[in-house]
Amino acid sequence: MSQPSLSLVDTDPAELVVDAIVIGLHSQPDEGGALLPAAGAESIAAAFDGKLTSTLALLGASGAPGEVTKLATLGTIAAPLIVAVGLGDEPSGSAPEREKLRRGTGAAVRALAGSATVALALPVPDDQDAPGVLRAILEGALLGGYRFAGYKTKAQPRRRDPVAALQVHVPDAADAAAGAEVTRAEIVGRSVRLARDWVNMAPNELRPPQFADAVVAAVQGTGLQVEVLGLEELRSAGYGGIVAVGQGSEAPPRLVKITYVPEGVSSPKKVALVGKGITFDTGGISIKPTAGMWEMKSDMAGAAAIGGAMLAIAALKPPVAVSGYLAMAENMPSGSSYRPGDVITMFNGKRVEVFNTDAEGRMVLGDAIARACADGAEYVFEVSTLTGGQVVALGKRIAGLMGSADAVELIRAAGDRVGEPAWPMPLPDEVRKGMESDIADICQTNNAMDRAGHMLQGGVFLREFVADGVEWAHIDIAGPGYNAGEAHGHWTKGGTGVPVRTLLQAVEDLT
Ligand code: BES
Ligand code: MN
Ligand code: ZN
Repeated sequence: MSQPSLSLVDTDPAELVVDAIVIGLHSQPDEGGALLPAAGAESIAAAFDGKLTSTLALLGASGAPGEVTKLATLGTIAAPLIVAVGLGDEPSGSAPEREKLRRGTGAAVRALAGSATVALALPVPDDQDAPGVLRAILEGALLGGYRFAGYKTKAQPRRRDPVAALQVHVPDAADAAAGAEVTRAEIVGRSVRLARDWVNMAPNELRPPQFADAVVAAVQGTGLQVEVLGLEELRSAGYGGIVAVGQGSEAPPRLVKITYVPEGVSSPKKVALVGKGITFDTGGISIKPTAGMWEMKSDMAGAAAIGGAMLAIAALKPPVAVSGYLAMAENMPSGSSYRPGDVITMFNGKRVEVFNTDAEGRMVLGDAIARACADGAEYVFEVSTLTGGQVVALGKRIAGLMGSADAVELIRAAGDRVGEPAWPMPLPDEVRKGMESDIADICQTNNAMDRAGHMLQGGVFLREFVADGVEWAHIDIAGPGYNAGEAHGHWTKGGTGVPVRTLLQAVEDLT
């Protein structure tokens, strides 16, 4: 579904003729629990003759972060409906405060499905913090307002329609920096939506050839170059890992390379973004249990995020050379599947002894990372729904982060800044020792099938495919890539689009 239109306004919010208006509410624990309207809501509070916050309190509002309270305005202001969103303590402009605003705005816009036009009268300061705060509000609004079009054959009730138009109140609507944030938010919003859409698609509708075609279609007209390797090319060029994983499926694997070259930059830094694109992961011969298997339609969330990020990069035009590598395969059990015990020769020549066909992500990624290094990448940022161990260790919202020190810190800081946290994890020597193979260069998992340090085994394995001197980060998004639970903040149900915004921030931070 298309994204809401964005416009900036600097007229009195109380007079905006819209279906609903969003204001912020701070909790004030030190002053007897009284609530304080956030900046931006002054004229609305005045229209209520000092009774706005007491009325909201009567309705149960506490100002807690993310809380949403609706109030009919009964003619006090032009908009018929106020949505007050809790923002916690008073803001300081810091990253955690901005994140409260991003999530709160997301929750408010999500709660406003059915309202065609919505105004946001939220606290945008009149100082150097303004662009960052505005960015958080705009991203929260666009992402919280996302809905997957889906496959329903019956028309859905209008009250479920996502918000169509957003007016955002700022101190000066003609300010160039504010205008630039709107342009950026539209680009970023579209990219995250696309990544979410791909993840949310049914796996029979997005097998590797269709996924590759969809990526090719999405980059048309963006100035990006795209190259698709099919089965024969993968086989003859020695992509043993991608071919092995894909060989159990009737739908052949693909490696899609998307290239962005900055204009007028002599010897730019070279970044590769590599994504796991398993369009469905049954586990293969090492088949998974039935419960929850359907969620493995999200096993291409890494590749979806890379595709989304590349589209945003094409529009944002950073002075960095960025290539995306989307390693696509469907992991199926069949008479032609790869087997536990197989020895596979990977793109960089290393031989891998397969122990568990369900550890397929590292097989396709090893090839893609090696290809990125062969292409001369100086930085490799790889994203994958790689291990259940990540979810056990860090939960559903925090990614696991491994790699070389500088790249890990770059990604950690970028994720922190944009509200997509990733936590650094080690790559211990003993984990590598546990992956020694009797007959090949490395086992694909621990050679005693010991699941201890499960997430780390993935990182240790992938390190084997990173060329010397290349800065690399492995971002395991098994948890944060897909929200199977209820929506919260700007995370809707299903694909989250994590870590598109982290990757954009990291690329921009390299300049
Ligand atoms: N795609 C899964 C990992 C996963 C699990 C992603 C849960 C999202 C949610 C991956 O391919 C997998 O099956 N990993 C195995 C590895 C094991 C066989 C070494 C796992 O985590 O159990
Ligand atoms: Mn698997
Ligand atoms: Zn998988």
